[in-house]
Amino acid sequence: MEQSIVKGDVLDLGCGRGSVGAFLRTIDPEIRLVGVDTVTNYQGENAYNVYAEIRTSDAEDELNSIFPKGAEKYDLIVSCGLPPKILSRLLTNENLLKVLKPKGAVLFIFDYWDNKNNVLSSLIAKGFQFRGGKHFVDQYILFWQDKSND
Ligand SMILES: C[S@@+](CC[C@H](N)C(=O)[O-])C[C@H]1O[C@@H](n2cnc3c(N)ncnc32)[C@H](O)[C@@H]1O
Repeated sequence: MEQSIVKGDVLDLGCGRGSVGAFLRTIDPEIRLVGVDTVTNYQGENAYNVYAEIRTSDAEDELNSIFPKGAEKYDLIVSCGLPPKILSRLLTNENLLKVLKPKGAVLFIFDYWDNKNNVLSSLIAKGFQFRGGKHFVDQYILFWQDKSND
């Protein structure tokens, strides 16, 4: 992972117990993490609870609520281990890239995915990079970074 993408405001979709946030903080302890998950009632007991804010919400609903307000933008949107149907819907949601700051990045890590080929070809056309992971729990990695100059 390029270290420069882990900075500022980070949105973790499907944050679960927060292991991704804890890992990202080892790269940059200053990041401000917002976590979203449909199940969040165990977060308070979580040893990895390093999130400034946890929202109990469907990941796609959250994107659809953030974008129209316009004020909330992220340097990094990260997601690890979402179920395949949720993942496919999220990646084809036009609001995903609209809530990124200039030079912001999207990083999705997953180990299974139905309907992969249809979604993949459209994502690659939008500039996503698709890679195989090195570990059995992160076989696939999708990455996109805004290249605008402003
Ligand atoms: C395999 S766990 C991964 C948790 C965490 N990202 C990690 O890597 O440790 C998948 C998480 O996705 C969440 N999830 C499932 N469907 C979701 C949805 N529609 N919106 C948001 N989160 C969802 C689950 O509640 C669960 O916490």
